Amino acid sequence: MMGSNDSDDGNDSNDSADPDSIDGVDDRVFERNAGDRGEGVPFVGAGPGDPRLLTVAGKELLEDADLVVHAGSLVNSELLEAYCDGADLVNSVGKDLEELVPLMRDAYEDGRTVVRLHSGDPAIYGAALEQMDALESEGVPTYFVPGVTSAFAASATLRTQLTLNEVSNHVAFTRPQGKTLSEEQDHVSEFVGMGDVTTCIYLGTHAVRETMDRLLEDGHDPETPVAVIYHASWPDEDVLLGTIDDIAEKVETAGYRASALVVVGDAVTGAGYERSYLYGDWANSGAADTTDEAESTDD
Ligand SMILES: C[S@@+](CC[C@H](N)C(=O)[O-])C[C@H]1O[C@@H](n2cnc3c(N)ncnc32)[C@H](O)[C@@H]1O
Repeated sequence: MMGSNDSDDGNDSNDSADPDSIDGVDDRVFERNAGDRGEGVPFVGAGPGDPRLLTVAGKELLEDADLVVHAGSLVNSELLEAYCDGADLVNSVGKDLEELVPLMRDAYEDGRTVVRLHSGDPAIYGAALEQMDALESEGVPTYFVPGVTSAFAASATLRTQLTLNEVSNHVAFTRPQGKTLSEEQDHVSEFVGMGDVTTCIYLGTHAVRETMDRLLEDGHDPETPVAVIYHASWPDEDVLLGTIDDIAEKVETAGYRASALVVVGDAVTGAGYERSYLYGDWANSGAADTTDEAESTDD
């Protein structure tokens, strides 16, 4: 937690505010750690699907819940059965804010324990903050509890790293153009063009053909590796491996139109990586390298 006494910015206009706070940042940022149970309605990441990939904090909250509002088909019903015994379950799919917010507010005000369960991590394409702000404006406190985003389940399935020494130095979580993103806001091609980025495309299963065609039109190497991981961590998980040139056909043959993550870049195969600095000299030095640089590679 950030210290509350180590700032000398001289701003004493609000005695209750943390001196480290800045405009627009909630004071609770300094009071609560990410795994702590807070006051109000938690917005919990369910993880990618396998109930065992829910965090311990999330499991404890679900076990105590009277009402769980969950994100439909991307939250595995096995997880709901395993951990939400006794809770009322409401599927949020097809419901708008005007319906969801009063539902959660009324339950909370009636003294019931409410959990909002999002797939993966709520911070990635979760549309969580708008629900939280609406609840807060109705006097209901809210907070996040993180989860395993599907890109991390996908990389585990692929037995690779999203960042890999000499292969990929960066990761992009992105989505293709469509109803939400305009052509100008679609940066898939730019990320792929950077060369050392692993591009994780959410919400793009239905548009693999169009996305790959655009990459080809933009002159990217057709042999660039691409993986499509359908239902990562679910019992029916499936992995399609290909290239920018041929992955669309494989997706169409498999018939997937949703619920898959598309990963573009050399990290898909992991080929050609170099040892990191952290372990590079292990055989010669006989001791762990404790320089700052070495430590930072171990994150
Ligand atoms: C609305 S977004 C939610 C993402 C979620 N918050 C997360 O962190 O994974 C839904 C998209 O996430 C991806 N997704 C979610 N769960 C997945 C899974 N188990 N396997 C593969 N992709 C998944 C798909 O691309 C899907 O279209």
